[in-house]
Amino acid sequence: MRLAVLTSGGDCPGLNAVIRAVVRTASNEFGDTVVGYEDGWVGLMEDRRRDLYDDAEIDRILLRGGTILGTGRLHPDKFKAGLDTIKANMADAEVDALIAIGGEGTLKGAKWLSDNGIPVVGVPKTIDNDVNATDYTFGFDTAVSVATDAIDRLHTTAESHDRILIVEVMGRHVGWIALHAGMAGGAHYTVIPEVPFDIADITKAMERRFQMGEKYGIVCVAEGALPKEGTMDFEEGGVDQFGHQTFNGIGQVIGDEIKKRTGYDVRTTVLGHIQRGGTPTAYDRVLATRYGTHAARAAHNGQSGMCVALHGENIDLVPLEDAVGKLKVVPAKRYANAQALFG
Ligand code: F6P
Repeated sequence: MRLAVLTSGGDCPGLNAVIRAVVRTASNEFGDTVVGYEDGWVGLMEDRRRDLYDDAEIDRILLRGGTILGTGRLHPDKFKAGLDTIKANMADAEVDALIAIGGEGTLKGAKWLSDNGIPVVGVPKTIDNDVNATDYTFGFDTAVSVATDAIDRLHTTAESHDRILIVEVMGRHVGWIALHAGMAGGAHYTVIPEVPFDIADITKAMERRFQMGEKYGIVCVAEGALPKEGTMDFEEGGVDQFGHQTFNGIGQVIGDEIKKRTGYDVRTTVLGHIQRGGTPTAYDRVLATRYGTHAARAAHNGQSGMCVALHGENIDLVPLEDAVGKLKVVPAKRYANAQALFG
């Protein structure tokens, strides 16, 4: 058999570990060959591909961040209009099944291809950890580690200067990174997109710290966080050419507002793409590797329309349908758990 693999959407640490596991499992267990499409769906449409061999290059990519195949985004309309081209390109490359590694958008595309007769298996990735039907996506643990390290560093400079430091982390629609990094780093307040914040509550928590003699504070903010209606002026971002939400710097806005209300010295740090780059943590390497092996087996066994997923200790196969359509948000009780430690 001949399998194809591609990485699509925003990159994240661990993509190469999946590619490596797909190639090695396909070769070792089944004697299958593997072709990699470049730049996600775009390369599949443009028939840009290369053979991937179980060689030294593949062996060494385990700890490399990013993706050796490159990644890309394609508007869903253009993608759907290209169905015949995709089928022709796959037939030309003699591909029997495709493994698509990506976030919710990519998995939606994979489901659509599978509904239209193309054998596809999905692998969920994203630092945001917002894909439904799996306990964790790889990349999340690395992003949380990077953000936690940043918060650790902010503590010492904040306390030296009696400052309030705001750290803005990624999280377009969900606050998993903010929740975990905020908790691991001991942030004194965390705001997430799922729960609109009241700036008065954040300010009060910071003032209380100063009154109690702790003359500094760390506020961890997810980039998609929004104020409660009527509590603060904030202009929401728009959408980009792919229909993805863009942002207007909520971390800076919160920092400016706290400074205005309290007179404290406030600075904002935006971590941005630092959270997406670099080598994956051991946890992400293991999860990505297990996903890759199971995806190769599923693709070889003709289990199309399925997605690998972590449930407790096990890697299961779930219908792609279960992984798309609804994002995995932070449950209210998890946020309440974090709230108990604010201030
Ligand atoms: O991978 C998801 C994500 O990290 C979001 O949290 C973030 O908003 C987005 O990607 C930004 O991606 P890009 O800058 O590549 O458009």
